[in-house]
Amino acid sequence: MRDTPNLRIPGPTPVPSDILEAVGWPMVDHRGRPFAALIQRVSQRLKEFFLTKQDVLILSTSGTGSMEAAVVNTLSPGDKVLVVSIGAFGDRFAKIAETFGAEVTMLSYDWGQAARPDDVRQALEEDPEIKAVLVTHNETSTGVTNPLEEIARVVRKADRLLLVDAISSLGAIPTDMDGWGLDVVVTGSQKGWMVPPGLAFISLSERGWQANQSARMPRFYMDVAKARDFLQKGQTPWTPTVSVFFGLDVALERMAVEGLEGVHARHAKIGQMVREGIKALGLELLATDERYASNTVTAIKCPEGVEVAALRRTLEDEHGVVVAGGQGKLAGKIFRIGHLGLVSEDDIDHALNALAEVLPKVGYSIPTSRQAPQGR
Ligand SMILES: Cc1ncc(COP(=O)(O)O)c(C=O)c1O
Repeated sequence: MRDTPNLRIPGPTPVPSDILEAVGWPMVDHRGRPFAALIQRVSQRLKEFFLTKQDVLILSTSGTGSMEAAVVNTLSPGDKVLVVSIGAFGDRFAKIAETFGAEVTMLSYDWGQAARPDDVRQALEEDPEIKAVLVTHNETSTGVTNPLEEIARVVRKADRLLLVDAISSLGAIPTDMDGWGLDVVVTGSQKGWMVPPGLAFISLSERGWQANQSARMPRFYMDVAKARDFLQKGQTPWTPTVSVFFGLDVALERMAVEGLEGVHARHAKIGQMVREGIKALGLELLATDERYASNTVTAIKCPEGVEVAALRRTLEDEHGVVVAGGQGKLAGKIFRIGHLGLVSEDDIDHALNALAEVLPKVGYSIPTSRQAPQGR
């Protein structure tokens, strides 16, 4: 057993000790000069990860709050939107849009599949009145990454708005806001950023800001125009989660040292390592096409005769390895290993070795033709 749990869920992710320490720093005046310098520094740095020239606004909310912000700041009741859904978070995007009065057309896929850009093209051709496309970049509930660059190309060509939930991708998987032409991009602090939950980041393209001017969905707390005005003076409209800002400042420094490419390469290598390890145990990925398997979270079909709850409990009790279960209709059918943010090859070795020991105890015998992963 390790001293601290090997938290292998797709967020909140483990927080390194220097960031934890920063989160405990004494409070400052959130309308004072030190905080102004801090927010301007971190929002500037975030642009380097979003790959955008636009402002990155920092909201004190969870990821879902930023999805809501994306919707209510660019759309009006009655607007037609296409929601591309490959899992629970795509469905959530649709619910948010519906809640605020959008007319939603769903382009849904079986859970485990990635969206096909051609289908998006067709759906947009069929209905020229669709104003915006809402899509999840990395579907955390299924461990599948959508081909966002290609989807964006289609949406650009059709000249619609593109709202992207990059909550479990940005900061870990390549996401090029300006280069790909994404109009609204959101993400959350507890994912690739190694920071506790409590902050979400949102950026709007010029087209996004134009849409904002005529958007009539109700909003108050989530008003990004207000957030942009306050950022100019180094503040947020409402009292922010100051402690999480302290942590974010340290996290972005760590990430800058590793470099964007280094961060992406580490996630790609680790994603591959998890998939190879899982297959070596004779288990099956939920992702139907491995080219789209996520480098931040792997969803694994629970083998016949094994109870997900028993597997998770035993992994945690005997090895301190915490994995996630399935969401929605996948509850009890899959388990998920998170590998984003603070994650090393040792963490994955540890988790896979624990899995190899626990599986036979909960009713699954590893096929002899398969090799258990070797500890290094
Ligand atoms: C892809 C995706 N979208 C949305 C969310 C919702 O974020 P939160 O739980 O922070 O509100 C999550 C969190 O798991 C996510 O992974």
